[in-house]
Amino acid sequence: MISLIHITPRNLGLYQDDILAIERASFPSPWGPSAFQGEAGNDVSNFWVLLLDGETAAYVCFWMFLDEIHLLSLAVHPGRRRMGLGRHLMDRMIALGLASGVEKVWLEVRPSNTPARELYHKYGFRGGGRRQGYYDDTREDALIMTLSLEAPMQMARGTSS
Ligand SMILES: CC(C)(COP(=O)(O)OP(=O)(O)OC[C@H]1O[C@@H](n2cnc3c(N)ncnc32)[C@H](O)[C@@H]1OP(=O)(O)O)[C@@H](O)C(=O)NCCC(=O)NCCS
Repeated sequence: MISLIHITPRNLGLYQDDILAIERASFPSPWGPSAFQGEAGNDVSNFWVLLLDGETAAYVCFWMFLDEIHLLSLAVHPGRRRMGLGRHLMDRMIALGLASGVEKVWLEVRPSNTPARELYHKYGFRGGGRRQGYYDDTREDALIMTLSLEAPMQMARGTSS
């Protein structure tokens, strides 16, 4: 069973170790505790943990302000990938955006990150420019991908219940 927990400064401590473990296993330059604490206390930030049968399996963090969503981070536990959990979190984020009048979703992704690019591509995200040398660790550029929620969307196979 999937459930989503909205992370706040009050409940972050319950999930922080699990989130940090997923983070370390997912990114070459993982966020540390202070970054997650900042997002938990940020009014424009939506920070959700996905529990699969009660176990922390994934998280997403995005800013929603005015008519935009900026996806900051999305990660699934390595042992829980290719089960539709990334798609589930994307579905929920986009559903909130649609219900809130969001017109555009944007994100940065490493060009080398094929799994993430494939996922975003399925939702209709398209490349919209690059930030040169954006990632400090590898000096890799960031590919900026955008999705208009006004245009008909090519939805991935939904998993939301
Ligand atoms: C990217 C990530 C979040 C995808 O999560 P996931 O739960 O495994 O993805 P899903 O099972 O929902 O897959 C949805 C679609 O994404 C694409 N996809 C996911 N993993 C893929 C892979 N390894 N190779 C190619 N396509 C992939 C596929 O199109 C897939 O649809 P399909 O299973 O019907 O083929 C996960 O790989 C991850 O946590 N990666 C490390 C962190 C990261 O890079 N985050 C993104 C930062 S921008």
